[in-house]
Amino acid sequence: MPLSYNNVYRESIENPEKFWADAAETLHWYRKWDKVLDNSNPPFYRWFAGGKTNTCYNALDRHVDEGRGNNIAVIYDSPVTGAKQQFTFREFRDEVALFAGALQSRGVRKGDRVIIYMPMIPEALIAMLACARIGAIHSVVFGGFASHELAVRIDDCKPKIIVSASCGIEREKVIDYKRLLDFAIELAHFKPEICIIRQREQLRGPLNEERDLTWKQALLGAEPAPCVPVESSDPLYILYTSGTTGKPKGVVRDNGGHMVALKWSMEHVYGIEPGETYWAASDVGWVVGHSYIVYGPLLNGNTTIVFEGKPVGTPDPGVFWRIISEYGVSVFFTAPTAFRAIKKEDPNGTFIEKYNLSGFRTLFLAGERADPDTVKWAQEKLQVPVIDHWWQTETGWAIAANCQGIEPGPVKYGSASKAVPGYNVKVVNQNMEELENGKMGDIVIRHPLPPGTMLTLWKADNHFIDSYMSKYPGHYLTSDAGYIDEDGYIYIMSRTDDIINVAGHRLSTGAIEAELCEHPDVAESAVIGAADELKGEVPVGFLVLKSGVDTPHNQIIKHVIEYVRENIGPVASFKQAVIVQRLPKTRSGKILRGTMRKIANSQEYTMPATIDDPAVLDEIKEVLQSIGYAR
Ligand code: COA
Ligand code: AMP
Repeated sequence: MPLSYNNVYRESIENPEKFWADAAETLHWYRKWDKVLDNSNPPFYRWFAGGKTNTCYNALDRHVDEGRGNNIAVIYDSPVTGAKQQFTFREFRDEVALFAGALQSRGVRKGDRVIIYMPMIPEALIAMLACARIGAIHSVVFGGFASHELAVRIDDCKPKIIVSASCGIEREKVIDYKRLLDFAIELAHFKPEICIIRQREQLRGPLNEERDLTWKQALLGAEPAPCVPVESSDPLYILYTSGTTGKPKGVVRDNGGHMVALKWSMEHVYGIEPGETYWAASDVGWVVGHSYIVYGPLLNGNTTIVFEGKPVGTPDPGVFWRIISEYGVSVFFTAPTAFRAIKKEDPNGTFIEKYNLSGFRTLFLAGERADPDTVKWAQEKLQVPVIDHWWQTETGWAIAANCQGIEPGPVKYGSASKAVPGYNVKVVNQNMEELENGKMGDIVIRHPLPPGTMLTLWKADNHFIDSYMSKYPGHYLTSDAGYIDEDGYIYIMSRTDDIINVAGHRLSTGAIEAELCEHPDVAESAVIGAADELKGEVPVGFLVLKSGVDTPHNQIIKHVIEYVRENIGPVASFKQAVIVQRLPKTRSGKILRGTMRKIANSQEYTMPATIDDPAVLDEIKEVLQSIGYAR
């Protein structure tokens, strides 16, 4: 009998312990849990308390031990270098075990942190899984972040070892990762003992003899390491994400709950069977990469693809279709911005027609709101269901989706569909009153959150409570605003904090503002996310100069743009700044960023009742018009 969404959802909310215990039975445990859900210390819920397991065992060895060792686990396809490589589950397990042995022989033990700062090459996955194998906690830092951001993460998680590569390749540009790494270590107060560098022929990096080893040197004499049993609630990884302050938040994920949730999601959210090929065109530096390039597909026995390229320009807007047809991808997941980039270069879908996509079943989009135009274009050109789904680094997997493995529902444009089983989603007002259908409010999730969601913030339990758990007691605050319609479909409309979403990348305007204020001529700054056809949003900076500054304005603007690129990284896409006399503020001094954003995006706005001086808004509008906004 086909599953009914209503039944599965109800069961997950009314009887979560039974629901998730059933899901957990499909994985390997060295010791079974004592309690499915330990709720003795809210909001610190722990799934499968007392259970012992190993995520790497479940992702690799289990398949070998159960006779699937010759199936393909990982395909590497790099249009920027021309390299292609495939690994079976057995081969990948062996690579991972050896690297795990190399880490152990250099003193890495259960609970130690290892930072991974790498481009999209198989060694990034090998390093992640090797950490999981020996119970070390990995923290992957996205390659588009520059030295300062990397240094902040080094200081926060204090890694014993950093694993990196000599370079990354961004279309035709070679990015000198080793230089960025060396500078980050120079900036950081905490110094790692060892760096392991995968030398790439496009640009070899200089080695610091006392600290650095090449990947090959690290493997010399290493013995394959067995899997180390860990507690279900032991951390598997820390992934830093933008918060409202300049300091990133270290989201901590467990082993047991995470593997159960991700494996369950492969079948039920994505509707994919073990043995099929699943591709998430993201980066291991983001949560999508953690969950759906590495852990989800491998836990479910799927082939996953490590793609080192871009949707366009490597070499053309047909590269996604080439990969889907060449490797028989059944389910594909990417960000809407990638589709907007393809649509811009190939509006008629001419490149799609060149490839046989007969095995391709479903396209999933996430990371930002999927605009209806993009969804419709993709549906029409690909002739497959296009499923928007909503999630966050904090949750690690989808909160709302049109679950293809349960009971696929109709697609409603602009909606990420219904709450995924396990998530009790509500829309509330400031008084914590649940709002009726169609009314906009804060989106919250009632405790307990399902397995796989964050445990806490690294070494910052209080910050975890303050950021997520205190505004609405008994609920997790998503910081997204939206509404739920009469059919239970969830519409995510905006963030309620100062996070912006640039090409599917989550950025804090507060962090950019902090960098702008470092400039000696800048007295004050504000950053807003202005609408952008390709990237969804791009940051625009407003600078108020100190009195008496006579540096030419274009020079100051050039400097701050370079400064943000050097300190946060190119991924911020910070390319526009303007100088203004004053910033619009409330009488109590709060900058009216929301109103500025509406002016930039030519949206209607009401004059805030608390505004100090309404005339400032005219100047803001004029300046924005001079750079192509506020039309
Ligand atoms: N290492 C080093 N630099 C990186 C990088 C990495 N891993 N990733 C991005 N950058 C750099 C880019 O080279 C670019 O630099 P530039 O300013 O010198 O051109 C800058 O960061 C901005 O990158 P990006 O936002 O990716 O823009 P782009 O113009 O290179 O590509 C898209 C535009 C739409 C093709 C691209 O953003 C994309 O594929 N987006 C999908 C996003 C995604 O998968 N998100 C994950 C969440 S699901
Ligand atoms: P990240 O933590 O980088 O995954 O970013 C999470 C944020 O991206 C969410 O809080 C949303 O604001 C936004 N987001 C992710 N997926 C969607 C979606 N499908 N629709 C709308 N917004 C989304």
